[in-house]
Amino acid sequence: MNIGIESISFFTSRYVLDLRTMAKARGVDAEKYVNGIGQEKMSVPPPGEDVITLAANAGHQALESIDTDSIEMVMFATESATDQSKAGGIYVHNLLKLKPHCRVFELKQACYSGTAGLLLARDMIHQYPDRKVLILMSDIARYGLNSAGEITQGAGAIAMVISSQPKIMTIEPESGYYTEDVMDFWRPNYRDEALVDGKYSVRVYLKALTESWNLYHQRTHIGFEQFSRFCYHLPFSRMAEKAHKHLAKINHIDLSEHELATHINDGLVYNRNIGNIYTGSLYLSLISMLENNPQDMSNHKVSLFSYGSGCVGELFAGQVLPGYRNHLSSDLHQSLLESRKELTYPEYTDFYNFAYVQDGTTQSMPTFDTGCYRLSQIKNHKRIYETL
Ligand code: CAA
Repeated sequence: MNIGIESISFFTSRYVLDLRTMAKARGVDAEKYVNGIGQEKMSVPPPGEDVITLAANAGHQALESIDTDSIEMVMFATESATDQSKAGGIYVHNLLKLKPHCRVFELKQACYSGTAGLLLARDMIHQYPDRKVLILMSDIARYGLNSAGEITQGAGAIAMVISSQPKIMTIEPESGYYTEDVMDFWRPNYRDEALVDGKYSVRVYLKALTESWNLYHQRTHIGFEQFSRFCYHLPFSRMAEKAHKHLAKINHIDLSEHELATHINDGLVYNRNIGNIYTGSLYLSLISMLENNPQDMSNHKVSLFSYGSGCVGELFAGQVLPGYRNHLSSDLHQSLLESRKELTYPEYTDFYNFAYVQDGTTQSMPTFDTGCYRLSQIKNHKRIYETL
């Protein structure tokens, strides 16, 4: 039985900051951001946009050609949760008008948890082939104004439907994973911004990649050369270059610049222009690879490496299905990116500094473009959403 991705889409904020604008405001050489970090732009969420509205927009797109009554489970992966108790997926379940006989819950392990969801969904469908699972991965990356991580912020959501009728990619059952208790990146409950030990986090990422690959290879005997493309969790796009060179090195492969570019570059296009979307970042890279690759990738094997600080890594494989292009939303995604409104630097800091009430006072949100859904009010400590 084939199990995998039947439908996949992303949504990102309708507002964007060009990192050259940030470089100018900060008096930094823009080459550092564009080439050193590998980021051109970052999506910036306006007031009234949160992980719920981002996920609902992505979900709406991913469900366009799916019978919503077939969705038996919704997993909501995030590290920017709006509530310590209620799963964000329940708001999305309501906004998308999914059936009540559906299991909904939230997942957390930094940027990794969506992958846990995907692989658990795969196992569930193996047991119940007629059921479908909607996985939502939604995040707003905030590091703080003037911090080293600021240029790696971003906002966006991925939605994908996993089923036994995959149209885009099958997900292979075997994987290699690795867990270690480290403090490379974290966000205590009392903070809005993440704390990070940036250089250390890159080293831990590479260690988790090595360990995950070693277990994957030991279990499957599948080698580096058997993959056509490699998608990585992308906190910033140059991380893929570091990761891929590292993976080649531990496999004793002398990678040419041409091979490096072929293996990873198409997968970097969207992330370079959106920023880090945490849980969805690996899957944004997968969509980018599928939509920006001029070559027909049918039947090609793709390596996927997921990393969540703290830390968990997992490496697994997918096989692209013939006809996959007919089921992508390439035009929609292109127009979503091209029609974003570019922010000035003061507009960016205004969005960044917008304060949501924390004391139960009623707050009505100013109106910005947030797609088909918006957070309209916080009242009596309750979030109120509307469909536009
Ligand atoms: N022109 C071209 N390149 C330049 C340059 C210039 N003028 N100036 C500097 N550079 C290059 C540097 O040489 C460096 O290249 P290398 O990586 O090849 O050495 C690169 O630009 C970055 O420069 P710095 O090392 O000086 O950058 P920094 O101190 O500002 O920090 C960072 C970079 C650590 C990634 C920081 O942005 C950060 O902390 N980001 C958040 C944490 C993060 O993304 N970690 C990744 C792993 S953890 C993870 O993956 C989970 C997650 O999602 C957070």
